Amino acid sequence: MDLQPPVIEMKNLHKAYGSLEVIKGVDITAQKGQVISLIGSSGSGKSTLLRCCNLLEDSQQGEVVFKGEPVIWKGSGHARRPADGDQVMRIRTNLSMVFQQFNLWSHMTVLENVMEAPVTVLKRDRKAVEEAARGYLQKVGISDKCDMYPAQLSGGQQQRAAIARGLCMEPEALLFDEPTSALDPELEQEVVRVIKDLAAEGRTMLIVTHDMKLAADVSDHVVFLHHGRIEEQGPPETLFGAPKSERLRGFLSATLAA
Ligand SMILES: Nc1ncnc2c1ncn2[C@@H]1O[C@H](COP(=O)(O)OP(=O)(O)OP(=O)(O)O)[C@@H](O)[C@H]1O
Ligand SMILES: [Mg+2]
Repeated sequence: MDLQPPVIEMKNLHKAYGSLEVIKGVDITAQKGQVISLIGSSGSGKSTLLRCCNLLEDSQQGEVVFKGEPVIWKGSGHARRPADGDQVMRIRTNLSMVFQQFNLWSHMTVLENVMEAPVTVLKRDRKAVEEAARGYLQKVGISDKCDMYPAQLSGGQQQRAAIARGLCMEPEALLFDEPTSALDPELEQEVVRVIKDLAAEGRTMLIVTHDMKLAADVSDHVVFLHHGRIEEQGPPETLFGAPKSERLRGFLSATLAA
């Protein structure tokens, strides 16, 4: 029996921007090694949920628990904030986020981008970090681009550099927000391959994606969000093979027709 606590738990999470309720009581648990995809229409709350999970966004109600450690809050409702800055840092550095738009530093080389946070935030030894960074760049297939600047790379290469940067933090989990959406189809495949390798390695991942094939191929569990609620969830075979909810059926046929 697995006695390890889940890497990430969100329990009855609620989030509003002013009076606009965006997340309306969501429960998600990611066990170690589990890959969970979040799908749903634009505006359903997928990015917000990822950002609440690594505390980039405040939430007003419910719990966020990292490896059995609940986030400690002060205040309530719209005034609720995490109380312990060290805890926020510990959680955030353990949940590496990969964004649609890569967000690499344009004035740093690829290698410097990958080394930056482990050296400056985690205060790790520079030499050891450089060795690790080169290893991760090799893993994502761009070890020949170490000394180039992001603008000199294709979109697929930039995204793979961003994934190497996330891995170099040696996080407990990776959070992807539409990692392939900004890419042309052939470059998308380079990134999909890297994500599949990471899934096969047993990495814990939450993946927001519009790519139903990616979700079907890599996920242990798929969550369909609709207007800030979980409308349906389950293993990919069931969710894609035999969707129960009318909304999910509509979403899938619209997405697959696009
Ligand atoms: N900073 C913000 N301030 C106000 N409203 C916001 C903010 N960020 C998001 N929203 C609103 O929250 C809702 C959910 O947005 P979110 O970005 O989480 O959706 P999404 O599912 O990621 O959509 P997409 O597929 O388009 O990326 C939307 O109605 C959006 O307009
Ligand atoms: Mg989004």
